Amino acid sequence: MTLRSIIAGTGSALPKRCVSNAELAKTIDTSDEWIVERTGIRSRYIADSTETTATLATDACRRALEAAGMDAADIGLIVLATATPDQTFPSSATKVQASLGIDDCIAFDVHAVCTGFLYALTVADSMLRSGAASSALVIGAETFSRILDWEDRGTCVLFGDGAGAVVLKAERGDRGILATRLHADGRHGDLLYVDGGASTTGTVGKLRMKGREVFRHAVKNLAEVLREVLADAGLESDDIDWVVPHQANARILDATAKKLNLPPEKVIVTVDRHANTSAASVPLALDTAIRDGRIKRGDLLVLEAMGGGFTWGAAAVRY
Ligand code: ACO
Repeated sequence: MTLRSIIAGTGSALPKRCVSNAELAKTIDTSDEWIVERTGIRSRYIADSTETTATLATDACRRALEAAGMDAADIGLIVLATATPDQTFPSSATKVQASLGIDDCIAFDVHAVCTGFLYALTVADSMLRSGAASSALVIGAETFSRILDWEDRGTCVLFGDGAGAVVLKAERGDRGILATRLHADGRHGDLLYVDGGASTTGTVGKLRMKGREVFRHAVKNLAEVLREVLADAGLESDDIDWVVPHQANARILDATAKKLNLPPEKVIVTVDRHANTSAASVPLALDTAIRDGRIKRGDLLVLEAMGGGFTWGAAAVRY
């Protein structure tokens, strides 16, 4: 039987403070109607000064370990996807490792913005199947509120903070990660970026985006990568029980589902509550739908995401 990475457990964490569109409209020239109509977002969670990418990630990992019935000491690999690390270095993955009390394991961050979790999952899956470790924590965690320009109403209303984690275990059998596909095209770096960095301005910078062009690329790339990953796994779109997409915008989710003839009831949507949490959004949506009972053991899932770079990717998983 084939050695695969199975999802043994999931967890997520959100900051304490939930901010509605109406609350944002008190300080920003926007309205609940505009935000809901263009994006489907109704609220987002914003981290306070005690909540960071690493603390949210640690909370998500504790819940994922509990769901998997495992101890932190069982973990041999931590891969954390983020574009908003606590510090330039050490990596947020090693901070999570220390907070969980793991003395020695492989731990590092990956950076592919909103596609980060798909990149992290693919790397961890390869390492488990090659024998580098037998279990892994794969995390998407972000505090995008720290890199938003709160004067730019075209971007600041779209994002939120949070973290999601999965425990992967190497096991022989039919379930687990069946196929993954990743892409990047650096020619579009000027459509979605942060205008700062350690090696250039020496500052963290703020997020900048040309929203309409990002939208156009997102729908095209996501539909293509979903078709690719299904073909790699020898599956048809009718076989899918659930699509767990990156939660950028309800209109991107609808347009992508339509392109693949997928009924909207099969698409997990949390963007209304969480907004776009970048690398955290796929594992957050996955954990939400597992805990509310929609996703069940044996279901066929397709995870997908697209983000700055551009980067995009997908994974087919038998849960
Ligand atoms: N409230 C009220 N009005 C606003 C707001 C706001 N928050 N933001 C922009 N507007 C105004 C603009 O000023 C403009 O006014 P004008 O016509 O008087 O100049 C008008 O609304 C239209 O602005 P556009 O930017 O053209 O609006 P658009 O219809 O393109 O919607 C949006 C903007 C929602 C960002 C859309 O382009 C989009 O969804 N893009 C996808 C981007 C995305 O989701 N990125 C996430 C990161 S990438 C990823 O995760 C895939």
